[in-house]
Amino acid sequence: MLSKLSLITESTPARVSFAEAMSTLASGVVVVTSRRDGRPWGSTVTAFASVSADPPTVLVSLCTNGSAGRAIAATRQFGVSILAEEQLAVALYASAPGKPKFLEAFAEPDASSATPVVAGALAHLDCDVVETVDVADHTIFFGRVRAASATDAGAPLVYHRRRYRALAADPATERSTTCLMS
Ligand SMILES: Cc1cc2nc3c(=O)[nH]c(=O)nc-3n(C[C@H](O)[C@H](O)[C@H](O)COP(=O)(O)O)c2cc1C
Repeated sequence: MLSKLSLITESTPARVSFAEAMSTLASGVVVVTSRRDGRPWGSTVTAFASVSADPPTVLVSLCTNGSAGRAIAATRQFGVSILAEEQLAVALYASAPGKPKFLEAFAEPDASSATPVVAGALAHLDCDVVETVDVADHTIFFGRVRAASATDAGAPLVYHRRRYRALAADPATERSTTCLMS
């Protein structure tokens, strides 16, 4: 059963309720890539979404004063590497607050894309910033997708209730999956 709804005000308990509520949303995990001083840089992000298919457009919401937000505001480009379940190490590395997030150890050395690519990611998008919106302490970067690539296999890394998780392999369920609506 749901706990009693808390009005969101400046008070701490309501903010805690907000964080609790948001933690119940399961998300894929991406590394948003950019360049700092010409070197690959990455930041772990869950606030990523597809906005439009035509033209292909995505958004990421980044802390305005964070390292990734500042790098992308300067270069007007970003990449999005969608992580596979085996990529917990890069998710942890690229989310350490205040620590350097140079990505050489995790990036494809000779990627042909405009932005750094996390090696072994399920997919990668190269984006040019087309619009930014400042909201609260975050900046939403809208990116026009210039190039995209994806693997045809692999399972996603998932974040839910403040933990990294993998989807359960359940061959029985997969065999009996039905389309409920189309
Ligand atoms: C699972 C997870 C998801 C995150 N999602 C976001 C996000 O959507 N936007 C954001 O600005 N920071 C997000 N962060 C925090 C960043 O990864 C990073 O720690 C933060 O921007 C501080 O980096 P900095 O000290 O280099 O600026 C997330 C962290 C974790 C662990």
